[in-house]
Amino acid sequence: MKHWRDQLRPAPGGDSTAWRCFHGTGSRWGGVWIDDFDGRWLVQTETAHFPESFREAVDLGDARSLYWKPRDKGAKTAPEWVAGEKVTEPFLVRENGLAFRIDFEAGYSQGIFLDQRENRRRVRDRVRPGDRVLNTFAYTCAFSLAAAVGGAITSSLDLSRPYLDWGKRNLEANGIDPADHYFCKGDVFEWLATFRRQGRNFHGVILDPPTFSRNGKGQVFKADRDYADLVSLACGVVETGGWLLCTGNTHRLDQRDFEKAVRQGVRAAGRRANDLEACPMPPEFNGDDYLKTVWVEVGGM
Ligand SMILES: C[S@@+](CC[C@H](N)C(=O)[O-])C[C@H]1O[C@@H](n2cnc3c(N)ncnc32)[C@H](O)[C@@H]1O
Repeated sequence: MKHWRDQLRPAPGGDSTAWRCFHGTGSRWGGVWIDDFDGRWLVQTETAHFPESFREAVDLGDARSLYWKPRDKGAKTAPEWVAGEKVTEPFLVRENGLAFRIDFEAGYSQGIFLDQRENRRRVRDRVRPGDRVLNTFAYTCAFSLAAAVGGAITSSLDLSRPYLDWGKRNLEANGIDPADHYFCKGDVFEWLATFRRQGRNFHGVILDPPTFSRNGKGQVFKADRDYADLVSLACGVVETGGWLLCTGNTHRLDQRDFEKAVRQGVRAAGRRANDLEACPMPPEFNGDDYLKTVWVEVGGM
């Protein structure tokens, strides 16, 4: 039986110190995923047990800290310390030259979704100075940072004020003044309707919703079921010739169904999907392609 070290993935390059370093496959390592945050390893497992053979990672010099959390969406607990240095303060990692603030004590999510690395790079490459970009479900504003570095004026929407504040710290960590950008707390669906009523529009809109969400009024959004409706609402605030980045963890939709939902949403808004481009996940995520990504250029009515 091969050692787990044989499946370790090197850093992706491009000045990145955070990446998925282990995406287990096969009967022995399937259901084990490890994210490397500048030497601090976060092991995630499908089962409720820490896989003991990884404990040696600190002694072997692969990791300086070892933390673990089971992938139990219901539990939502912070990762547990296993070995090595304890991480008691937020710290910075780099991805394609940008700094992101990570916190192992912040709860279930540590501040960045590493599977969106390539999409952040694409956003940064696509924006032009002065573009207005709306980042919905912004979380810690990682997409806003990518757009801001490209010269865009960003608006970030999220239900959570603490996450938006975290986003401001992310901009500051990269020498960007948050006062030059907008941060809106509240429900994405309500904000999209409000912006549309106000005639406020954007050159680019980023849609990266959670798989499931319930807003303050108890309204439920399921990405698998409601993605087309979200796209349709977003089309109400995209200028002609602007773009939508549609992405999300939609396990139950395959790439074709996802693209269909996006087209449906654009059509339902009375707009045209001029150019549609599907993008793959980063290569080290070599499991099932759960993360779907489609860019659309939105034409006129
Ligand atoms: C999976 S994260 C989104 C990841 C994010 N797009 C990124 O790039 O890191 C989900 C985020 O959506 C926010 N959220 C969930 N439902 C929402 C809603 N109805 N309106 C606004 N924000 C919402 C949560 O507060 C959380 O920050």
